Amino acid sequence: MPVRPPHSPADFAAYYQLRYEVLRQPWNQPLGSERADDDAAPSTVHALFTAEDGAVAGVARLHPCGPGQAQVRYMAVHPDYQGQGIGAALLQYLEEAARRQGLAECILHAREAAVPFYTRQGYQLVAPSHTLFGSIPHFLMRKEL
Ligand SMILES: CC(C)(COP(=O)(O)OP(=O)(O)OC[C@H]1O[C@@H](n2cnc3c(N)ncnc32)[C@H](O)[C@@H]1OP(=O)(O)O)[C@@H](O)C(=O)NCCC(=O)NCCS
Repeated sequence: MPVRPPHSPADFAAYYQLRYEVLRQPWNQPLGSERADDDAAPSTVHALFTAEDGAVAGVARLHPCGPGQAQVRYMAVHPDYQGQGIGAALLQYLEEAARRQGLAECILHAREAAVPFYTRQGYQLVAPSHTLFGSIPHFLMRKEL
């Protein structure tokens, strides 16, 4: 199974490294900005995709965020591995984890460029949300699980 939780310290190092490289470094954000206070919460689910060559090619996480509701955050696939179904596999893994927790709805704030990806995965556009780093418009999207 290429999608699994990170276990070892090496797994977690690769997990956060990829988050940083894809979601923070291109906007000159400092190391550490890829981490969130609730990463260590027991209810937060982390997912890591290992490619056939052994590389950590994709990461994502999910946490319960309201009654019956989960939120996906920090979805990142390494540029060399994008367009191969890895993002879809990560999302399906997290949605299944949410279902197992009895959660009925998944929400996320999608970067503008990722909106078509999430639409393809069955998410509906709800409304524009925040703008990250003053330059990346986000859109609230939702899906019934
Ligand atoms: C967005 C992202 C997670 C998608 O992951 P991916 O592994 O490249 O996507 P997949 O290969 O799983 O694509 C699944 C489907 O969505 C489609 N898709 C993916 N990105 C798309 C895009 N930008 N526009 C239109 N369709 C897209 C694929 O064509 C594929 O369609 P199919 O099911 O008909 O084959 C990845 O490109 C990424 O990490 N981007 C940079 C960081 C980012 O924006 N993260 C999201 C933050 S909200």
